[in-house]
Amino acid sequence: MTAAYRDDDHGYSDHDHIAPNDAWMEKGASTSSGKKKWVVMGGVLGLAALIAIGVALGVTLSKKSSSSSSSSSSNSSSSDPSDFTKDANLHLSFYGIAYTPAGSQLPDCGNSLDDVILDIQLMSQLTTRVRLYGADCNQSALVLEAINQTKVNMTVYLANYPVSTDNNTAYDRQRDEIKAAIETYGTDHIAAVTVGNEFILDYLDLNGATDPNGSVGNEGGELLIACINDTKSMLSDLGVDLPVGTADAGSYFNDLVLEQVDYGMANVHPWFANVSINQAAGWTWEFFEDNDVKLAQSLSNTPEMFVAETGWPTESSDTADESNGPSNASVANLQTFLDTYICEANTNGTKYFFFEFFDEKWKDEEYGGVEGWWGLFNANRTLKDGITIPDCVLS
Ligand SMILES: *[C@@H]1O[C@H](CO)[C@@H](O)[C@H](O)[C@H]1NC(C)=O
Ligand SMILES: *[C@@H]1O[C@H](CO)[C@@H](O)[C@H](O)[C@H]1NC(C)=O
Ligand SMILES: *[C@@H]1O[C@H](CO)[C@@H](O)[C@H](O)[C@H]1NC(C)=O
Ligand SMILES: *[C@@H]1O[C@H](CO)[C@@H](O)[C@H](O)[C@H]1NC(C)=O
Ligand SMILES: *[C@@H]1O[C@H](CO)[C@@H](O)[C@H](O)[C@H]1NC(C)=O
Ligand SMILES: *[C@@H]1O[C@H](CO)[C@@H](O)[C@H](O)[C@H]1NC(C)=O
Ligand SMILES: *[C@@H]1O[C@H](CO)[C@@H](O)[C@H](O)[C@H]1NC(C)=O
Ligand SMILES: *[C@@H]1O[C@H](CO)[C@@H](O)[C@H](O)[C@H]1NC(C)=O
Ligand SMILES: *[C@@H]1O[C@H](CO)[C@@H](O)[C@H](O)[C@H]1NC(C)=O
Ligand SMILES: *[C@@H]1O[C@H](CO)[C@@H](O)[C@H](O)[C@H]1NC(C)=O
Ligand SMILES: *[C@@H]1O[C@H](CO)[C@@H](O)[C@H](O)[C@H]1NC(C)=O
Repeated sequence: MTAAYRDDDHGYSDHDHIAPNDAWMEKGASTSSGKKKWVVMGGVLGLAALIAIGVALGVTLSKKSSSSSSSSSSNSSSSDPSDFTKDANLHLSFYGIAYTPAGSQLPDCGNSLDDVILDIQLMSQLTTRVRLYGADCNQSALVLEAINQTKVNMTVYLANYPVSTDNNTAYDRQRDEIKAAIETYGTDHIAAVTVGNEFILDYLDLNGATDPNGSVGNEGGELLIACINDTKSMLSDLGVDLPVGTADAGSYFNDLVLEQVDYGMANVHPWFANVSINQAAGWTWEFFEDNDVKLAQSLSNTPEMFVAETGWPTESSDTADESNGPSNASVANLQTFLDTYICEANTNGTKYFFFEFFDEKWKDEEYGGVEGWWGLFNANRTLKDGITIPDCVLS
């Protein structure tokens, strides 16, 4: 059993109740509505060669968020959002992309339809699917409005990011936003609704436990299932039929929760597992198959499984986080991961959401390290210098 614990060096230490021998934590990639996230890895070593390292993100309330102020570099040739110049460097090669519109964190918000339209114009040249993390700051409606105005072939996995400690305040608020968006836009461009983002991991963290199927995990599971049930009721009251799923760390799904959903989305991050860049693509496949696909197949409802997030950071804001184990954060390594993962994962039929669309400045400001540097695009929406998008168009 290899395990280590490394405290966060940016002033967040509310997770030190995690037993050092059970998990180690590292600051991690984050997203969502006003939440601070953690990557937690349960380093679980079987006697077999299998190295099962769970990667996950948890959340706690954030203190601040930055609003969007990024300028656009995209060149619209007219004021009609559906008439935009295509970039020959972009290819429709991604199954899906993980996305949070800039300025979608409470309390500041600050996102705008114009910005989201630019994002959708770019992402529609890479994929036909985007996934959101939460619904605060009107992001569901903004994305659906942008899809409507750009007329692109895109569906969105809407999301609700509940918090276990707020008597469902965040959940209720987001449910109402999702409901309103469905009432306005219908479901033509909505693929599904995801309820929960690392909810179980976060619940275990907050309550000093590590087993997603232990009593604490089941207790958290009941809270999440109540939200899932409520979302299903909301949808059926609207008379719409959409899949409802949940997203969690790749080794932190609670079985009772998975049994209540149509799909599960698993974060699978070679970076946080200290996997070398040369092994990253294969590791991602193996981890997802061994932990998530297999688990889903063992349940009576056999939920559909997706990789919720996978990617590679291109830089760190401090030297200590420049590397994690054997490989550095670099554009060259992101390129290697793109070259080794994307087309093969498409061939393999893996349903994945690449993490992520663009660098998110608020994460860098709030968490430092590699947090803000996972984008294919810079924060100003230019493709990162040195990145070549793989060309293996999905049919
Ligand atoms: C936008 O694109 C048009 C034609 O594609 C070009 O003539 C114009 O200079 C571009 N404008 C900017 C600001 O890049
Ligand atoms: C839109 O994308 C879906 C995949 O998400 C694809 O099956 C469909 O053929 C596309 N439609 C058009 C008109 O390109
Ligand atoms: C949310 O966004 C939509 C689309 O732009 C807009 O019509 C609506 O007024 C916005 N709602 C709020 C509360 O800002
Ligand atoms: C929790 O929310 C419910 C309604 O959503 C309310 O009836 C109840 O009083 C709240 N409990 C607390 C402790 O705030
Ligand atoms: C979306 O676009 C279509 C035409 O492309 C339009 O008829 C419709 O009213 C738009 N708005 C909504 C909310 O769907
Ligand atoms: C959720 O719904 C299922 C199926 O209808 C039901 O069996 C279960 O008791 C509900 N759980 C909660 C926590 O609401
Ligand atoms: C419990 O959760 C873990 C992680 O999702 C999973 O691998 C395991 O199969 C689950 N079920 C049981 C009965 O332990
Ligand atoms: C594709 O599947 C093969 C096994 O069939 C595996 O070895 C490979 O790593 C997978 N590739 C990716 C990118 O997932
Ligand atoms: C990953 O590498 C870092 C050093 O970059 C080290 O501190 C950490 O213990 C390693 N974790 C594992 C699980 O090997
Ligand atoms: C990672 O970066 C550090 C500092 O820039 C460098 O010393 C080291 O050689 C790099 N390691 C790899 C594997 O590229
Ligand atoms: C966009 O951001 C990148 C990275 O910060 C920078 O190198 C580039 O000059 C910027 N481009 C524009 C057009 O602002």
